Amino acid sequence: MKKILLTAVGMAAIIAITTVACQPPAGETKPAEETAAAEDPVKRGEYLVNTIGCDDCHSPKKMGPRGPELDLENRFGGHLSTHPIGPIDTSVLSKGWALFGPELTVAVGPWGISYSANISGDSTGIGNWTEEQFFRAMREGKYKGLEASRPLLPPMPWQNFAKLKDEDLRAIFLYLKSTKPVNNVVPAPKQLSSL
Ligand code: HEC
Repeated sequence: MKKILLTAVGMAAIIAITTVACQPPAGETKPAEETAAAEDPVKRGEYLVNTIGCDDCHSPKKMGPRGPELDLENRFGGHLSTHPIGPIDTSVLSKGWALFGPELTVAVGPWGISYSANISGDSTGIGNWTEEQFFRAMREGKYKGLEASRPLLPPMPWQNFAKLKDEDLRAIFLYLKSTKPVNNVVPAPKQLSSL
């Protein structure tokens, strides 16, 4: 009888310990967004794009009281062909400077003048791209993700993105494909000598 009682007490103790151990410590519960992102690759892609900051260069901006703000209508549309840039003072380049347009979608440096690409879900963006193209653009820095195409120019930091895990790159691709199509053919880059 005594033995049975001791066993019962022991069992109760084990259950109590397990229950306590399985409770997530206060403050360590996963935020809802993170949990949803783990389940749905498009949500994960959205989370990655929003935190890595693709908008900085790939979304046009409107000028607000404190500087450029995202132009959400044209989000991920790249440098808008309807926004011509003014004359470029190339004299500052020889003094070691690089230039950014006010929307941060056009940059001028020793590599020439480069325009941020359209990475929205439109066919003028990445809407018709295969996953293979996206991986090649992000891992090998190839324009349009095609094997025989030109290297991607600065300031696209593909060398960093090349280190993203396959599933994260895939999630980013799926999210970008799902974004509102922005019809915009971005101007081609130019050499400094042609400015
Ligand atoms: C600091 C600016 C900058 C950031 C940040 C940036 N990009 Fe880019 N990206 C560019 C520029 C500029 C180009 C165009 C380069 C060229 O034409 O050679 C480009 C090109 C690309 C291309 C190739 C498009 C094509 O048509 O070949 C893809 C894909 C791309 N970026 C995806 C992304 C994604 C996804 C992110 C965020 C994870 C991102 N970029 C963040 C500047 C940036």
